[in-house]
Amino acid sequence: MLDWSDTKPATPANPAILTNAPASDATGLGDIDRKGGRVSVDEKRMINCRADVNQLLPLKYKWAWEKYLSGCNNHWMPTEVSMQADIALWKSKDGLTEDERRMLKRNLGFFAASESLVANNIVLAIYRHLTNPECRQYLLRQAFEEAIHTHTFQYIVESLGLDEGELFNMYREVPSITDKAAWALKHTQSIEDPEFRTGTPENDQALLRDLITFYVIFEGMWFYTGFAQILSLGRRNKMVGIAEQYQYILRDESIHLNFGIDVINQIKIENPHLWTKAFQDEVRGMIRDAAELEAAYGRDTMPRGFLGLNAALCEQYMHFIANRRCGQLGLTPVFAETENPFPWMSEAMDLKKEKNFFETRVIEYQNGGALSWE
Ligand SMILES: [Fe+2]
Ligand SMILES: [Fe+2]
Repeated sequence: MLDWSDTKPATPANPAILTNAPASDATGLGDIDRKGGRVSVDEKRMINCRADVNQLLPLKYKWAWEKYLSGCNNHWMPTEVSMQADIALWKSKDGLTEDERRMLKRNLGFFAASESLVANNIVLAIYRHLTNPECRQYLLRQAFEEAIHTHTFQYIVESLGLDEGELFNMYREVPSITDKAAWALKHTQSIEDPEFRTGTPENDQALLRDLITFYVIFEGMWFYTGFAQILSLGRRNKMVGIAEQYQYILRDESIHLNFGIDVINQIKIENPHLWTKAFQDEVRGMIRDAAELEAAYGRDTMPRGFLGLNAALCEQYMHFIANRRCGQLGLTPVFAETENPFPWMSEAMDLKKEKNFFETRVIEYQNGGALSWE
């Protein structure tokens, strides 16, 4: 059973092993230590771990393993969703207003490139610095899910006959989208450098900055207003195929977000010297900046707004979400307390209320994937 609520508290690590000694083999691809002992739970650490990273068991961070299992149970493919109604609506003259078309195209353009940015950050920046096998197991699953999400946008472009160059270049050509991508990229560039190593407070904070940027801000804030835009159309029976795909992406992303929060909070527990007052202020500033970038994106994608959705409501939603993310990280809120203008978003996350799609789908996969030796 999925838990959509806030992250569960992590267990404090054994202080006896909280040394800052450099990792002997953070990649797990170095020479084999034939005389090394077996890894015990107490030796496992999120970052700068000196124990062998190739030994999944014994598990220390059960929350990471549970998220890996949840991700596997949620498997889906975009091509399983019918696009017939969307194609008919997109091609009909009066099906969508010009404002709805503008929002839809820019929303798709934002997500199409963002899924790749998130995937590349996991694979090329974060993976090698998280020195824990159960977290890496989840990252491998997440990387595949990001590939499925990118596939979704390929499938939408192909189904609706959209201009692929226009869509996949929006992150370079539409300023309100470029501004968000550029803001996030500066935080991954510092740690994807092959020479970058964790193990100093400065570099460990750079890793935290990247985790906060991609998990909390990119996937946990910016994606959420993007979901609200499309699901709002879906609620009015418009582009229902895309809206259904976004529901599945939202379900995946909510686990990505909660995994990221657990990772950040566990690193904080094991390395309290990193979570200084100055660093907390910096993170709150990042969350505030990110909400402003999102408000600008809202004004650009919805200059006039339409039924049930406009830039002002999206900005309010971003403030609500930003405060919630602060709470999950143990920070004081950055905005005045505000109500959630889209309470239906929490219902949208609970797919089981709407349909029984996944229960049957999981069984089909298990049966369809069974090997026959006859
Ligand atoms: Fe994604
Ligand atoms: Fe994601």
